[in-house]
Amino acid sequence: MMNKILATALFFSLLVSCGGNKSTDQNQDEPTQLSTGQLAAIGKLLVDESDCKTCHHPTNKIIGPAHKEVAEKYEFNDENIKYLAKRIIEGGSGVWGEVPMNGHPDLKQEDAEKMAIYVLSLDGEERK
Ligand code: HEC
Repeated sequence: MMNKILATALFFSLLVSCGGNKSTDQNQDEPTQLSTGQLAAIGKLLVDESDCKTCHHPTNKIIGPAHKEVAEKYEFNDENIKYLAKRIIEGGSGVWGEVPMNGHPDLKQEDAEKMAIYVLSLDGEERK
């Protein structure tokens, strides 16, 4: 299952990297990147496949903060996507309390960012 998701994610990122500048139509300058909604959907799958649910519930605090609470704390922008991805990879404590989150050093930065996008989308805030 994980491999399928990664393969899909890889497929999309290949599409993105090959898809640039193909169109000569001036009016068709739609970005070939995945939309935030698509990234969040992949992020949700990655979260579901990982150990996150042991400590996080979307709307209830368990061992870690509810992911919706995290979304409410942070503005949905690139800087916070990068910051939260780093927190997911490195783990640690001190922001929500003394209980530490374990690190996820095997996660790729881009996948951790998709997870962060999913988490940040949970309060319905538009990405800036
Ligand atoms: C062992 C329990 C545990 C697991 C497993 C876990 N977390 Fe956490 N998580 C925590 C705790 C505890 C905190 C609060 C840390 C703090 O206070 O700095 C936290 C904080 C966070 C934050 C907010 C960080 C911040 O700086 O505000 C995010 C986002 C997050 N976790 C995402 C995830 C994701 C995604 C996964 C799965 C890849 C995951 N967590 C797995 C316990 C866990």
